[in-house]
Amino acid sequence: MKVQLDSATCQGHGRCYDLAPDLFGEDEEGYGTVLGTGEVLPGAEQHARLAAANCPERAINVLEE
Ligand code: F3S
Repeated sequence: MKVQLDSATCQGHGRCYDLAPDLFGEDEEGYGTVLGTGEVLPGAEQHARLAAANCPERAINVLEE
């Protein structure tokens, strides 16, 4: 599983890095960033889905692999 964040769509609501700090960080302006390659380690799948479901802009994609 992998997460992607569309930075053109992100408005900096911050739910992703609040809910899933293992997968997302924030840049200096509060916009979300994907940590590392976005690979979701076993056990963190729920965090990925939670972040995607809670982004008001729907900027997060979860790729099931
Ligand atoms: Fe951006 Fe959505 Fe996160 S708007 S900061 S990707 S919750």
